[in-house]
Amino acid sequence: MKDYFGYSGKVCVVTGAASGMGKATAEMLVDLGAQVYGLDWAEVKVEGIAKYIHTDLSQKDSIDQAFGEIPAHIDSFFGIAGVSGSKTDFVTTTKIDLISNKYICEEILPSRMSEGGSIAFITSTGGNGWEKEGNKNVYLPIVQANGWDGAVEALNKTLLPHLPGTLGYPFSKLAMNYYTIQLQATYAPKGIRVNAVLPGSTDTGLKDEFTAMAGGEEALLSHTGYAKRLAESREMAEPIVFLNSPMASYISGELLRVDYACTAEEVAGLAQPVQPIDLTAVLEHIQKMGQK
Ligand SMILES: NC(=O)c1ccc[n+]([C@@H]2O[C@H](COP(=O)([O-])OP(=O)(O)OC[C@H]3O[C@@H](n4cnc5c(N)ncnc54)[C@H](O)[C@@H]3O)[C@@H](O)[C@H]2O)c1
Repeated sequence: MKDYFGYSGKVCVVTGAASGMGKATAEMLVDLGAQVYGLDWAEVKVEGIAKYIHTDLSQKDSIDQAFGEIPAHIDSFFGIAGVSGSKTDFVTTTKIDLISNKYICEEILPSRMSEGGSIAFITSTGGNGWEKEGNKNVYLPIVQANGWDGAVEALNKTLLPHLPGTLGYPFSKLAMNYYTIQLQATYAPKGIRVNAVLPGSTDTGLKDEFTAMAGGEEALLSHTGYAKRLAESREMAEPIVFLNSPMASYISGELLRVDYACTAEEVAGLAQPVQPIDLTAVLEHIQKMGQK
């Protein structure tokens, strides 16, 4: 039988491997014969992984330490961990959902990956509208800052840290969707691909927090289109495992929406569009509030 996915013996790093989509991804990779390194602040209980490494992705030193425990050569990176922002402030949410991925991909992976390597993130359809100028103007200074400290400094120079953690979620996902495309340009000359999966609402460890943020179960389900149910973690693991495999060797810079056509129907005008967040308007609003 041909091993189409080609993960056998490959070193794969999965963040967020303790729960939800990250756990489902780690399980699938183990089944496909990969050496899986699971980074999470909660214990990763996946039979057959090479190593669980306790990591706090909101701390640069913890990330450095974790990568010190992983073989020098990494084949595939799966940036999946994330928080909703309902239990963390804006800056911490952004460190976990955006800055940790940026730091790993800019400061660690360039010397650890070679041609044929692959990087994929789980971002979100909550980051739809990433291409709008009003959003770009707000997130670009952070995305384009240098290093961990530079990104945190750029964030702290704005009014964003005054916002609740729950707004750190769409902010980070808008930025991650842009960043995926920016990063593929950096990695393309090295023959390394970069992609992202943008899930719709999924039944994971974050379900209760997203249900509360949406205003109840019915509201959450109203964004599931014809599926009329939340996705399962496995249904996000499968596309991200595909994107990082040689099966997707001509796919890079792809933002793969896995939301049962919800976004596509909105774009086509077949469904009522959900207005994407406008970060510029949000910032203008808090500026006005501060002047009162
Ligand atoms: N569940 C959804 O409806 C949904 C929709 C769109 C996008 N997402 C995104 O999917 C990704 C995976 O989340 P999930 O839904 O599977 O939730 P989950 O809570 O089941 O898994 C997230 C994992 O990230 C880990 N994590 C969180 N903060 C961490 C930190 N500081 N350091 C180390 N590990 C940390 C958690 O311990 C957990 O194991 C996230 O990026 C999330 O934003 C989720």
